[in-house]
Amino acid sequence: MRRTPSRSCRRALSGAGLLLAGLLLLSAAWSDDESSAVKGMEFLRESRDARRYVRPLTSTALLTPPPGSAAAAACNAPPMGPGPGVASFEANDPLAAQLAPAPPLRLLMLVTSAPAHHERRQAIRETWGGRSEDARLVFVLGRGPEPATEPSSAVMAEAQRHGDLLVEDFTDAYYNLTLKTLFLLKWAVRECPSAAFVLKTDDDMLINTRGLVRALPRWVAQARGGGANGRLGGLGDAAAAEDAAAAAAAAGDPDAPEPPPPLIFGFVHHHALPYRDAKSKWYLPRWLFPDDVLPDFVSGTAYVMSRPALEHLYSVALNTPLLPLEDVFLTGVVGGSRLGIPRVHISRFWPHNTVLKPPKTMDHPCLYHHMLAMHHFTAEKLRHLWNPLMRLQPARQCDTYLMRFLGRLFSPGSYQVVTDDPW
Ligand SMILES: *[C@@H]1O[C@H](CO)[C@@H](O)[C@H](O)[C@H]1NC(C)=O
Repeated sequence: MRRTPSRSCRRALSGAGLLLAGLLLLSAAWSDDESSAVKGMEFLRESRDARRYVRPLTSTALLTPPPGSAAAAACNAPPMGPGPGVASFEANDPLAAQLAPAPPLRLLMLVTSAPAHHERRQAIRETWGGRSEDARLVFVLGRGPEPATEPSSAVMAEAQRHGDLLVEDFTDAYYNLTLKTLFLLKWAVRECPSAAFVLKTDDDMLINTRGLVRALPRWVAQARGGGANGRLGGLGDAAAAEDAAAAAAAAGDPDAPEPPPPLIFGFVHHHALPYRDAKSKWYLPRWLFPDDVLPDFVSGTAYVMSRPALEHLYSVALNTPLLPLEDVFLTGVVGGSRLGIPRVHISRFWPHNTVLKPPKTMDHPCLYHHMLAMHHFTAEKLRHLWNPLMRLQPARQCDTYLMRFLGRLFSPGSYQVVTDDPW
């Protein structure tokens, strides 16, 4: 069969078009690395040496929780608590109680925040941040944009008032989140020796603080029992939880002779691919990370490090070339590839909000109660949900056909009725 000339002509033309498009794509892929001076990442071209920014041997904090603050007092409690004899004596003697050292801190909650986020910080103080005697809250900020060399007067006033701000000597900017995390580790390692666990989280999160404090010894016991690098934090496994209970008392107890092993708990991303599109929030150019697959890492929205993990992470991170994605860098490259610390998946840490946004009339606290950490909360939404969550009686209110149905539709994670980790 003969082709008409016009037809083959069109073919040739479209062939040429395809070729041209292909060439354009190729050149785009090529230039991905060479010309991409993405605004904010330039300082990594100059140096990826964390020590240069973090200055591990110097004290770099511009503002810290003052000695009398709740955080500082708990942080500097001796790692070993007073013996039982002393405790019973204290109970009857107010003066002795005043002089007695504070008990060691179970959980230090370090919340990355930006200088302007006063409102979010206040909402956190009034909700989950002040919820447990076993946990202390500190917000971590950088300096304002260049040329600011010190915190703004609003930040100073807030620090004075609440004593829970750590302001470090670097520019607070999106691509500096890794530096923020390293400064946070530096402070926890140097200034908070009594903290058995450190939570790193953000200022748009909702955290079940009491539930988390209670869950930690369970998870440590389960991880010790061979569950490390597996999936924990489900609720179905009541038998394992019971088994763990005996060991748990010792495992997460800072008074116990044996410290918990190095562990990182959180929502683990497996085999994720780096974003190569310069417009993405999570852009990772090839010149910073050439591999095609990311190491397994724990979502930076919220993760908990045991004390030994914290110390190893900090010292090895200082000798690892910086990446702009703090979670990939710290929990993936440093914690995983370099240190092999078990990253334990906790399905109740959820790096998103609800699956669908429920209409106002159906937005019930049951939809959230089974999670320990959730993302994308405004100050307003935090405050709105908090009291209903604390008042909630899950066994009575959440275990109904209607709630299970709504839970399937809207809830983060898989809907479960949780009765033993109250908010
Ligand atoms: C990150 O902080 C360092 C140290 O303050 C600074 O040199 C760099 O410009 C900052 N990066 C951004 C994107 O602001």
